[in-house]
Amino acid sequence: MTLLEYLRLSGRAGTKEGCGDGDCGACTVALIGEGADGQPHYQAVNSCLIPLGAVAGRQVLTADGITNCHLPKAAFVKEPVTADQLHPVQAAMVETGGSQCGYCTPGFIMSLFAAYYDGTPDDLSVEGNLCRCTGYIPIRRAAQMVADAAAQDQFSEQLVSASTDLVPLAYTTQNNGHSERFYRPTQLSDVLELLQHPDATLVAGATDLGLEMSWHRQQYPMLISLEAVAELNQIHQTDELVEIGAAVPLSHIETNLHGVFPSLDEMIHWFAARQVRNRATLGGNIGTASPIGDLPPVLLSLDAVLKLAGSGGERTLPLADFFTGYRQTELQPGEVIVSVQIPKALTPGTDRRLSQSYKIGKRGTDDISIVAAAFVVDVDGENQILQARLGYGGVAATPARAIAAEEFLLGKPWTMATVQAVKPLLQEAFTPLTDLRGSAEYRKRLVVNLFEKFFVEFS
Ligand SMILES: Cc1cc2nc3c(=O)[nH]c(=O)nc-3n(C[C@H](O)[C@H](O)[C@H](O)COP(=O)(O)OP(=O)(O)OC[C@H]3O[C@@H](n4cnc5c(N)ncnc54)[C@H](O)[C@@H]3O)c2cc1C
Ligand code: FES
Ligand code: FES
Repeated sequence: MTLLEYLRLSGRAGTKEGCGDGDCGACTVALIGEGADGQPHYQAVNSCLIPLGAVAGRQVLTADGITNCHLPKAAFVKEPVTADQLHPVQAAMVETGGSQCGYCTPGFIMSLFAAYYDGTPDDLSVEGNLCRCTGYIPIRRAAQMVADAAAQDQFSEQLVSASTDLVPLAYTTQNNGHSERFYRPTQLSDVLELLQHPDATLVAGATDLGLEMSWHRQQYPMLISLEAVAELNQIHQTDELVEIGAAVPLSHIETNLHGVFPSLDEMIHWFAARQVRNRATLGGNIGTASPIGDLPPVLLSLDAVLKLAGSGGERTLPLADFFTGYRQTELQPGEVIVSVQIPKALTPGTDRRLSQSYKIGKRGTDDISIVAAAFVVDVDGENQILQARLGYGGVAATPARAIAAEEFLLGKPWTMATVQAVKPLLQEAFTPLTDLRGSAEYRKRLVVNLFEKFFVEFS
């Protein structure tokens, strides 16, 4: 079951279910987890997407339990809470009138709570929370009100003393007569051994798999969690490349690699919302093999290479060769994505590297792309194109590069005339589908126009 189901079934009903798919934030709770700086931090997460096993041995805080009153032994407060016992973020929401029906309020409170101890309660900290009736101005005022408050209280003390070590875990439950096992190995070798089981499914942040559990009531006889596997949770940088562990949460990449790959920074900024980025991983984004995953186009443009491991050993594979068809990949049974290697070296002779990514959706944050695109163009001192990589998502059965256009650009000057000349190739590069988000024709136009936009921004 999900953490949200568990909370509500066990009487901690302050945490609400809105959408059940990570979109509304009503179910937000705070976990104590290791932040990008290696220190314990409160992290806002969507409890509707988290398999219960993923939080075994961890501290979970909900809106029921963050008042400043002496916390009773029972995990949820039964006595009415008085105003002076409210947590500062709760008091601020009362003060600004940030709640009407109150359904979204526990989620906003927990997002603000987590941000309160990170020193940044702001619009971005609540970008993954929707309110249908109050309107956002009072909620934003509440965030501003607590932004400068010094967070010295029982919860900051708890953070200082928190041990974020995840204990190894394996347990079995009976659910509707089905036996389900959840494993949380700490070493890659154990993952590979467990993967020999024919029913095994890998789970990392569960922001994709969690939907199957929450919405489709999908049963998983055997889940292998990757979040405690040391080899998959590291970021290494050398002069030549950056290697990002497949299970590193996106919020760590956002902080630890900021400024290294601007197009990656830009796409992660528009990726889902805070609660999802605190859990979602690169390995999961590639592992889903979704044609509208936002990070593969960026990684394709950066010539990323995957490191894969299986019982037969490790191998590397360019991401460009990984996707073989709709939701199909080169990953063999028993294999796991270990890391993503992104070269830092530029094409020899490069004077300037031009690079950016673009996401077109129906709203700014927390939306699925209609089209995502990422471009890298290396130009020499004479303004000649030495290398071009044009990665796209949302326009084919897989994330894909516009190869013919890339080849056409080689050796051409980086000018508007070249961009105009390559347009027919881009126009014909893909045969996208029409769906609820956009028509095939609109997507084809975006393929062309986003590249022109890139030129205008970087000419
Ligand atoms: C509200 C919401 C908003 C979202 N917004 C975006 C968005 O803006 N852009 C976007 O691209 N996606 C978005 N997603 C989808 C999802 O968050 C991403 O695909 C995410 O990167 C998945 O990572 P995860 O660690 O949660 O994967 P999981 O859900 O844990 O796993 C996903 C799949 O990958 C497999 N897998 C995981 N790790 C590995 C590995 N190391 N090796 C092999 N297979 C592996 C799993 O078996 C599973 O099949 C959104 C999802 C939600 C719920
Ligand atoms: S219930 Fe909407 S995000 Fe979880
Ligand atoms: S207070 Fe009603 S949805 Fe936000």
